[in-house]
Amino acid sequence: MTTTRLRFHAPCPRGLEAILGLELEALGATILAQTGGGVRFEGDAAIGMAANLHSRIASRVLREVAQGDYRDENDLYRIAVDTGWEQWHEALASLRIDITAQRSPLQSLHFALQRIKDGIVDRCRQRSGERPSIDTHRPARRVFAHLEAQRCTLYLDWSGEALFKRGWRREGFEAPLKENLAAGMLYLAGWTADQVLLDPFCGSGTLAIEAADIASGRPPGARRRFAFERTLDFDARLWAQVRAAATAVKPGAQKHVTMRSDGPFKPAEDFPGTPARIFASDISVAAIAAAQHNLAAAQLPTNAIVLRQLDVLNLDQAPAPQGLLITNPPYGERLDLGGRQSLAQADRFWPSFATLLKHRFNDWSASLLTSDPSLPRRLRLAESRRTPLFNGAIECRLFRFDLYAGSRTRKSQDASLA
Ligand SMILES: C[S@@+](CC[C@H](N)C(=O)[O-])C[C@H]1O[C@@H](n2cnc3c(N)ncnc32)[C@H](O)[C@@H]1O
Repeated sequence: MTTTRLRFHAPCPRGLEAILGLELEALGATILAQTGGGVRFEGDAAIGMAANLHSRIASRVLREVAQGDYRDENDLYRIAVDTGWEQWHEALASLRIDITAQRSPLQSLHFALQRIKDGIVDRCRQRSGERPSIDTHRPARRVFAHLEAQRCTLYLDWSGEALFKRGWRREGFEAPLKENLAAGMLYLAGWTADQVLLDPFCGSGTLAIEAADIASGRPPGARRRFAFERTLDFDARLWAQVRAAATAVKPGAQKHVTMRSDGPFKPAEDFPGTPARIFASDISVAAIAAAQHNLAAAQLPTNAIVLRQLDVLNLDQAPAPQGLLITNPPYGERLDLGGRQSLAQADRFWPSFATLLKHRFNDWSASLLTSDPSLPRRLRLAESRRTPLFNGAIECRLFRFDLYAGSRTRKSQDASLA
């Protein structure tokens, strides 16, 4: 198994395919194609294992196990029944199948899935006399089928739980970002661990915790198990080598995060002797509590992130002369006006935020992920870059603003924002 070339498909949030390709290439994979929402690649088993362990962008890693042309559901049955499922799992191992399609001529994906399931179950029964049960909640094995116009590909899941689940999320707060989308935003913004970072609408802390995790050098999958470990052809010695090659960092000692009332960040006072470089704040007490729990569960030194409960408009000082402000600001009803409740005040929120950016963060770069395409107009700032990204099914854009003094101000005459 060690040197045989295998084919894989790694799905990821749409918009991050190119970055995922670079990440996989750096692990030694040969990229075959970028698909809409994933990357097909080739490599030996160690590469597939390393992709699970190290990728911050992939949602999962699927091993390609069969491919064939089809015209109808009977062809799908034939492809499934001809596949050597007995190499990877005991016949009784419970099963879940998911199916996706692009330009498939078939009328019913449900029926297509049934026929693939029949093929797998019949194969198991023919070989061992036993048949797997279907378990959609905690399956022992997962199969993914993908149908194109004429071609069907079957994949065996090598990940188990989705890879964006790093194992630390205890509390979500109002639709948290997925960790792999947060990692993609950090890569797209060009963040490096020596750069000061601030998320002033941090919610449950996803961006800050992902950044601290990147800075720790610890592989994102270091503290979890993977589905490939349960396959019959699992090479435990190879997996031990892949893990040993990873830069493992011992989790830091736990310290309590201090929280004070409103006011500027003062890292030197809050954490004397620690060069804190990651800052996160949110107006909501509950959000900060969730972020604290998540940070503690991530087993990172909690002084890696300075967490504060703060209305963004009271942020009257940047935590450093230069840095990256990266955030996923509230949109629509989620904007908390911190007591400024009239409509006129709501209208002034984004211009006030823009003023804050221009005056307090004038040597910073800002990257804002939003589903609101008019955010630059609301801010009256011209973006230097816009990258389409999907937050689940929601189409978003990552707007980048270079806030160097006096530049890039949008000459908008929009009266409603005046
Ligand atoms: C879209 S959520 C951010 C979610 C976050 N990225 C996560 O992964 O959990 C927006 C956050 O903005 C916060 N917020 C709304 N108005 C605010 C304000 N005036 N000042 C600071 N935070 C505010 C909300 O409490 C909410 O947590």
